[in-house]
Amino acid sequence: MADQTITSVSREHRKFRPSAEFKAQANLGSDAAYKRLYAESVNSPEKFWDRQAKEHLVWRKPYKKVLDWNPPHAKWFLGGKLNVSENCLDRHLGTHRENKAALIFEGEPGDVRTITYKQLHFHVCRLAHIFENMGVGAGDRVAIYLPMIPEAVIAMLACARVGAIHTVIFGGFSAEAIKDRINDCKAKLVITADGGWRRGKVIELKANVDKAVENTPTVQTVIVVKRCGNTVNMREGRDVWWKEAWDGAPNSHKAKAFDSEHPLFILYTSGSTGKPKGVLHTSAGYLLGAKLSSHYVFDLKETDRYFCSADIGWITGHSYVVYGLLSNGSTVFIYEGAPNQPEPDRFWQMIDRHGLTILYTAPTAIRAFMRWGDNYVLRHRLDSLRLLGSVGEPINPEAWMWYHTMIGKKRCPIVDTWWQTETGSIMISPLPGVTATTPGSGTRPFFGVVAKVVDDKCNEVPRNTGGKLVIMQPWPSMLRTLWGDDERYQRQYFSEFPGKPGVYFTGDGARQDKDGYFWIVGRIDDVLNVSGHRIGTAEIESALVSHPAVAEAAAVGRPDELKGQSLCVFVTLKQGQVASDELKEQLRAHVGKEIGSLAKPDTIRFAAGLPKTRSGKIMRRILKEIAAGGEVKGDTTTLEDFSVVAALQAED
Ligand code: WT7
Repeated sequence: MADQTITSVSREHRKFRPSAEFKAQANLGSDAAYKRLYAESVNSPEKFWDRQAKEHLVWRKPYKKVLDWNPPHAKWFLGGKLNVSENCLDRHLGTHRENKAALIFEGEPGDVRTITYKQLHFHVCRLAHIFENMGVGAGDRVAIYLPMIPEAVIAMLACARVGAIHTVIFGGFSAEAIKDRINDCKAKLVITADGGWRRGKVIELKANVDKAVENTPTVQTVIVVKRCGNTVNMREGRDVWWKEAWDGAPNSHKAKAFDSEHPLFILYTSGSTGKPKGVLHTSAGYLLGAKLSSHYVFDLKETDRYFCSADIGWITGHSYVVYGLLSNGSTVFIYEGAPNQPEPDRFWQMIDRHGLTILYTAPTAIRAFMRWGDNYVLRHRLDSLRLLGSVGEPINPEAWMWYHTMIGKKRCPIVDTWWQTETGSIMISPLPGVTATTPGSGTRPFFGVVAKVVDDKCNEVPRNTGGKLVIMQPWPSMLRTLWGDDERYQRQYFSEFPGKPGVYFTGDGARQDKDGYFWIVGRIDDVLNVSGHRIGTAEIESALVSHPAVAEAAAVGRPDELKGQSLCVFVTLKQGQVASDELKEQLRAHVGKEIGSLAKPDTIRFAAGLPKTRSGKIMRRILKEIAAGGEVKGDTTTLEDFSVVAALQAED
């Protein structure tokens, strides 16, 4: 961790206290109550979670035991049975929420659909019947590759209803990436659409699926939603239109109850080796974490209209579009397209048009809005907003202040929420009616979270000192394993500190300030955060070396005003290959094809050699410094050949 980051952030001392008005209406408005609850949640976790599970979840069969912790394996609410879709839908039927909007959808072309809880229940029941008729049931894997449209939510909940395990694949991923994910989890059903709208153009989703399923022997059926009306190939016997399967399916469905630990979904995320990790979440604990954190962190009220700009393909879309919000009976607004289509004020327009009250978005988006200019914001009232959230990467204080003044009009608390695909729900965040916020800090841990900043021996470091961020105790929404690779699960998350098999290592570096507030300073492992999305350097590198011209590749991050980090790759070519701008373009396209456009490098640099240690390990630290345009500082004595570095710098 660079000292500079640590000293520069520690200059931030502004504190923003919740207003008396906000406090008075908050789900939790007293610091004393927060402290009492937090203390109980970490000192008597089983008592705390027992009460929450009874209060917040609808059980078909009561559990017998709250927690079984056999590090690194946790089981929560043992012996209990429930249905996650029933917890998101059926529980609201017959109440004042029955005809409340569950989803308000706006497509990029401007089409709007409102779906009530009762209607959403109909849709999910129908699809559950369709699944059962296809022989898709408990434990089967279903891949969902859809745009941000209501059918994505319906598909997820229908999986939950029949006990199938969904794996949602972000629409920006390529055919190769879809194929790898489907093959890893052996999905038998794929749900996609003809296309999705993005910046006025159709993204051809079905065409990508066609390419992917040429090499996925387990896929029997592909259900296709008609969204854009673009021409698609439908293969007899494999592909069916959603609408055709739909007609005639009954709109009620008796949901089966599943075990608390029944798998709910697999979500692939980047790690420090080339192969994406299939993070596995299960039912009761995950749902409880998502529900409880939504209630407290977003201070949800019956009248809220909540907008999370994350795609359903990321964990944020799982926990804070679908499961956490619908289980609370909230109205969720979803938007299909780009934030600058047709103009950079699309979000602000939609907030005014639909009277949205909560906005949860990412720092990279906030920085893009800042760059597009205040005028796009100032044409709109934004007076329906009452709370703002940030997620995905550290928010720089400048962006925080802009969000606070320009969007929140100094009236809305900001919750900067730190968490991960693996944690399932928010782990560190202000509670908006309680916590005084400081720009750039996620402040304090949520209930049940014992977060610490430690050194290599797992000893807590003094305040204002950087270290590794760890979680000391299990929590209900934690991942249970990596799909098909329990050994990697243990190695990746629970093996950082010898002799401490129960300590979860986040992969993040952090420090705590004098008030105990947490500041995330970035990843420690070889994982980058580009526009709030995790990208493993090894994944990019293996994509590059699969190109016939490339001998070796190293990917590093470079600080970027807009994206947080931009992706810079160093490439050495095979004998006889010639470096050219054309080849650069080819390589970018190649990475796009292998992984998806989100992983395309911003900068490609050809090099005669890469700096390596004597044992042959690429020294990324040096490449990072070169990429940032700076001098190579620090120890270079382990370098095998310094002339490589000199050549790279000369070329700059
Ligand atoms: C990594 C997790 C959790 C949903 C989005 C990303 C970084 C996330 C924050 C924040 C500082 C953050 C961390 C974390 N991160 N939120 N509020 N402040 N850093 O999920 O892809 O699993 O990535 O994103 O580095 O480890 P993910």
